[in-house]
Amino acid sequence: MDLEEVIFRRRTIRRFKQDPIPSEELKKLIDYARVAPAGSNIQCVEYILVETPSMREQMFPLVKWASSLPKEERTPESGREPAAYIIVLVNTDIKKSYFDYDVGAAVENILLGAVNFGIGCCWMGNINAGKIRRLLEIPENYEIKHVISLGYPDETSKMEPYKDSFKYWKEGNEMHVPKRDLADIIFKIL
Ligand SMILES: Cc1cc2nc3c(=O)[nH]c(=O)nc-3n(C[C@H](O)[C@H](O)[C@H](O)COP(=O)(O)O)c2cc1C
Repeated sequence: MDLEEVIFRRRTIRRFKQDPIPSEELKKLIDYARVAPAGSNIQCVEYILVETPSMREQMFPLVKWASSLPKEERTPESGREPAAYIIVLVNTDIKKSYFDYDVGAAVENILLGAVNFGIGCCWMGNINAGKIRRLLEIPENYEIKHVISLGYPDETSKMEPYKDSFKYWKEGNEMHVPKRDLADIIFKIL
């Protein structure tokens, strides 16, 4: 897949097939994150990979899905949960502040890399960080920033032209995600 195809194909996926993702592919995604840009090249972003069924089961209630959808459409049904999770951490012994852009760049590398492997992802900020810290025994010098839920897609998602709302919606097994038009976001060309 060429880069443009990867960029345009990437959509958030929230329903997953239960086939396992090869560990080597998950590690490769973290390797893509490893080489992302970082302010002053100070590399403070670290990761926990959650693959085993028992840990996945315990992680599932600690992330919240699709707050824009009606309640009954938000959460993946039984048998459609993520096949893996990547927990995105900041090691505050390495950097104390100004790391959110580093996290964003690293996560985007993971999401784009996943498209190329046919893996779907959901970047998640609505998480129970306290319970995740206890479950995964994450020391206090790590900030828990985000969770990426991953798996082979069991739903489709397409972009729609933005009209008057940023709200995404679901019809059957397909998500619809409005995106603003290019002409509307180029504020000026000088
Ligand atoms: C910082 C950030 C946090 C997000 N947190 C969540 C979340 O907690 N739960 C969820 O279901 N989706 C979450 N998303 C996914 C967004 O809802 C999704 O990116 C958006 O609707 C656009 O869809 P697209 O990724 O397919 O372009 C998050 C995305 C970002 C960038």
